[in-house]
Amino acid sequence: MDKEINSHYSILIVDDEPLIRESLYEVFRIEGFKARMASSAEEALEIVNNDKVDIVVADLKLPQMTGLELLKEIKKSKPQTEVILATGYGTIETAVDAIKHGAYDYITKPINDNEVKLLIGKIVEKRQILEENRNLRDFIAQRGRNAFCGMTGSSEKMQKIYQLIESVASTNATIFINGESGTGKGLVARAIHESDHNRKGKPFIEVSCGALSETLLESELFGHMKGAFTGAIKDKEGRFEFAKDGTIFLDEIDAFSPALQVKLLRVLQDGVFERVGDNITRKASARIIVATNQNLTELVERGDFREDLYYRINVIMIKLPSLRERKEDIDLLVKYFIEKYSKKNNKKITGISEEVKRILLEHSWPGNIRELENAIEGAVIMAKTEIINRWDIPNVAKFAATATPKLVNGRPLKKILEQPERDLIIAVLNECGWNRNKAAASLGINRTTLYNKMVKYKITDKDRKL
Ligand SMILES: Nc1ncnc2c1ncn2[C@@H]1O[C@H](COP(=O)(O)OP(=O)(O)OP(=O)(O)O)[C@@H](O)[C@H]1O
Ligand SMILES: [Mg+2]
Repeated sequence: MDKEINSHYSILIVDDEPLIRESLYEVFRIEGFKARMASSAEEALEIVNNDKVDIVVADLKLPQMTGLELLKEIKKSKPQTEVILATGYGTIETAVDAIKHGAYDYITKPINDNEVKLLIGKIVEKRQILEENRNLRDFIAQRGRNAFCGMTGSSEKMQKIYQLIESVASTNATIFINGESGTGKGLVARAIHESDHNRKGKPFIEVSCGALSETLLESELFGHMKGAFTGAIKDKEGRFEFAKDGTIFLDEIDAFSPALQVKLLRVLQDGVFERVGDNITRKASARIIVATNQNLTELVERGDFREDLYYRINVIMIKLPSLRERKEDIDLLVKYFIEKYSKKNNKKITGISEEVKRILLEHSWPGNIRELENAIEGAVIMAKTEIINRWDIPNVAKFAATATPKLVNGRPLKKILEQPERDLIIAVLNECGWNRNKAAASLGINRTTLYNKMVKYKITDKDRKL
């Protein structure tokens, strides 16, 4: 028995015979328990109701109220309290009755010290497990999870992502993962597959659609027949066939050409496709996950992405937060990456300096987790001491330059330049008394361009300085 653990538990011994009472008291005290004694059931009940008592060891035969009655009372007011009853020969039946009424167990008299210690040990063990479970549950309920399927992060935004993944995993729905570059779309796709009890263990096929030309992508996805195009020297299965009834993850979906979009739409609508150069129609049974870091609605508006395909894809969307939207996770991610790359590089790095912490928090992370991961990997390799310092971070100058996050804040350069461009056009227009020919000439653009920009920026007479 562990005395340190035992010291958290209190035992009450109830017996009208002082010798028995006191010897048990000694046994428990030596084992580290908080032990108390009572000479009657009434006295015991008083203690149980007013103090914290975890375990009661009571004689069945007590002067007035019996041990059995005491047990019933305790179970009524303090059901968590465990009761062990001690019985002489001949009263075993009552003892069995006691168990029916919620006693933990009974022991026979004369009491064997080891036997009672064993029983108490079991109770303590049970309590410990219950407590650990409760702590774990509380931890999960209150603080949420620190990680999920290889994703690190305890922020509220990530908790929602974890829950969403769990709830959609076992459906057959197509899932659309959207988020800036480096936010972990690949990890989410894998997590969906792993959380899906019907597909886990089956193929998970990932296709980086942006990396392939149109012809190659089509044959990669759907397969081809010998001679279907130059270089098709034999029949080939496509990724949809490889994926079987597992998961197929189409990354960079924005790279699909209009013709391929039609073919994908058919897979999504009818679950069928053909190999290039083949006329046999095949069934696609894999769950489809697609991802892009682009704004698909914008692509639809521009006519670069089919609207009907967009609606088919966008049944369930998982929108990943950028790192700058969940900076509270940076600490945890840094720890995770330090550990990962220390191990990989055989180094003993324990943390980062306060200055580095500040730099990392101020940075706007346009490349999100991938950028953070690369920075930490580089720093771990560079670091000469156990603590990563400012000079260990690669491109520290770049970090300093982007330490104006309020201005940049991850928006693309084009967007950032819009406001000054608008201001400039208005200023020039005012200089030229709103003569558009003059203003266009002064800006070095033609009249139509000026006109278009004025429409785009909603520049009207209201902006005219009187
Ligand atoms: N929550 C996370 N915890 C730990 N590592 C992460 C997390 N999110 C992303 N990463 C890591 O960051 C890197 C980028 O992730 P991933 O490739 O999934 O991003 P992505 O969103 O697919 O980016 P892209 O649009 O550029 O393809 C990977 O090395 C991945 O392991
Ligand atoms: Mg990716």
